[in-house]
Amino acid sequence: MTLSGPGIEAYPTLFSPGKLGSVALANRAIVSPMTRTSATDDGLATDQMVDYYTEYARGGWGLVATEATYIDEKYSQGYNNQPGIANDAQQESWRKVIDAVHGEGVPFFMQIFHAGAVNQGNHWVEGSIAPSAVQPKGEQIDRYNGSGPFQTPREISRDEMDEVVAGYAAATRRAIEVGFDGVEVHGANGYIMDQFLTTYTNQRTDDYGGVIENRVRFHIDVMTAVRAAVDPAVPVGVRISQTKVNDLEYSWPGGDDDAQIVFGKLGQIGNLFIDVSAHLGCAPVFGTDKSLAGLAKRHSGLTQIANGKLHDPAEAERALSQGEGDFVALAKGALADPAWPRKIAAGVEPIPFDPGMVNPLATLANTVAWRQLQAAE
Ligand SMILES: Cc1cc2nc3c(=O)[nH]c(=O)nc-3n(C[C@H](O)[C@H](O)[C@H](O)COP(=O)(O)O)c2cc1C
Repeated sequence: MTLSGPGIEAYPTLFSPGKLGSVALANRAIVSPMTRTSATDDGLATDQMVDYYTEYARGGWGLVATEATYIDEKYSQGYNNQPGIANDAQQESWRKVIDAVHGEGVPFFMQIFHAGAVNQGNHWVEGSIAPSAVQPKGEQIDRYNGSGPFQTPREISRDEMDEVVAGYAAATRRAIEVGFDGVEVHGANGYIMDQFLTTYTNQRTDDYGGVIENRVRFHIDVMTAVRAAVDPAVPVGVRISQTKVNDLEYSWPGGDDDAQIVFGKLGQIGNLFIDVSAHLGCAPVFGTDKSLAGLAKRHSGLTQIANGKLHDPAEAERALSQGEGDFVALAKGALADPAWPRKIAAGVEPIPFDPGMVNPLATLANTVAWRQLQAAE
């Protein structure tokens, strides 16, 4: 879709074309992954999903990313009615969604996911696994039909860690085989990979626990396997954050030293993109002049997606032109108005976000995460 209007000149970087690996994007605006729990009980993509992804594809985005999609028929699912890419039927169910998005001429990436301890609905197995047997903070998210505290996970075994790494690689192959243009691994927001990275959920005494070089090792294992799983021209990347769906206050204890190690090691794998999710926004961190997204770019040298409160186009343009990211991803802004890029280009005010938009059957208003988010805003 060719966008036109006064916004193109007003936000020249936002509306400039870009590339992620071999994939060409018409502009720098990406739909950030958003869980919508609208798959079937056994994780098949539905017609409702065709509808909302088509709506984004028509809205003028440079790239659309899927909601978090679980990778295996074991412990990876975190929410009831979350979609999967764990078996043939799930893989095939995505084809209609991919065809619809591609029919609008827009590239489409899948975000792949393992819940770890932050698991409040799993069709396949009882219980949960995590780096250590630590009960997650906070309460289950009620907009995804959870209530009360999370269950305490059991410690994952080394064999299971290898299985999970292989599961990410297998899910990546499946996603590309069925027609996705790229894959983002969900390494953020409190799920299993982030549980390894986070001091209080990782109490391991082996070479995956303790110092940051050890806590980031699982990310490195997963991303090495995922990178090797598909052709080098296929874009693959990883999402990183400090905050979590069940903890919006956590900050990396080593500050910029941690950032240098985490992003430096990802940079050594090479040929990846990094997407930094920042629920609280893209302000500078750790007393540096950059947000975590900017530090990811500085320390890794990789292509970078910035995310977090960038729905004001002036703010998105600033983030892009000041080196915070090569692309910007919008979540709540995209949910509120799937035609955000088209409207910004045309100089039309987009529809603002309202919590009731997340799920027509429930609102975010009484969830722990939402209360924390509001307190922080
Ligand atoms: C309804 C909803 C669902 C979300 N689901 C996911 C998800 O599946 N995967 C993910 O990485 N982030 C998820 N997020 C986080 C967003 O992608 C994004 O990082 C966060 O909302 C901050 O960006 P924003 O300020 O543009 O909303 C979700 C956010 C919302 C509001």
